[in-house]
Amino acid sequence: MITYAHRGARAYAPENTMAAFTKALDLKADGIELDVQTTKDGEIVICHDHAIDRTSNGTGWIRDFTLSELKKLDFGSWFDQHFAGEAMPTFAEFFAWYLKTPLLLNIEIKNGPVIYDNIEAELLNIMKTIAPKSFDLYNRIIISSFYHPSLCKIKELDAQFKTGVLFSARPVDVLSLIKQTNADYLHPHWHYLDSDWIKEAREAGIGVNSYTVNTPEEFAFVAPLNITGIFSDYPDRWLKS
Ligand code: G3P
Ligand code: MG
Repeated sequence: MITYAHRGARAYAPENTMAAFTKALDLKADGIELDVQTTKDGEIVICHDHAIDRTSNGTGWIRDFTLSELKKLDFGSWFDQHFAGEAMPTFAEFFAWYLKTPLLLNIEIKNGPVIYDNIEAELLNIMKTIAPKSFDLYNRIIISSFYHPSLCKIKELDAQFKTGVLFSARPVDVLSLIKQTNADYLHPHWHYLDSDWIKEAREAGIGVNSYTVNTPEEFAFVAPLNITGIFSDYPDRWLKS
């Protein structure tokens, strides 16, 4: 099973910062999961919440700040003084670093309640501009969202990009999510994993990555199921021996 470090290795460093991403690499995670949104001046930045209150010394919504305003804030001290001064990364800054690593990547588009028009096109544009021709964008990266219209938009823009449908409820027909979005992966909360639909998905060539698996009990539930990967705040706990 593949392990993605959730928001970077967020148990060990402030989530969605370069400190968390470099920690994930140090811990030998297979991949990184991160969340993207757009600033007032149209820059794609990495952050989970639409508001910055929980993870910085600022207050308000990302859509109301310019990038230079956000760059003045401290996204590390809330976690530990050791990380004081940690900045909010732009996706482009992260991606330039990421290209030098062997990691897989899951980019989660955080549309809803704020809807960022054009975030899908801008995201693909950044990746295609920065990545060298030799980089395998289509097999190293999955773009996921709880906001399923974003997944349809990605496929309209470039059907070769892999996408993952996030869900946190048990649909009557799980595979219908794939039919609706043309996605390549199902990304359920682990509560909604069950061997029947997993079997059906895997036989249809659909991958399954589940969030967020943190405790030994959660891992014991997930491990016997035939899924592709997990997202974990503690990627080091599940290293293959
Ligand atoms: O992509 C998996 C997981 O990150 C989804 O939930 O709220 O942690 O972004 P959340
Ligand atoms: Mg996420």
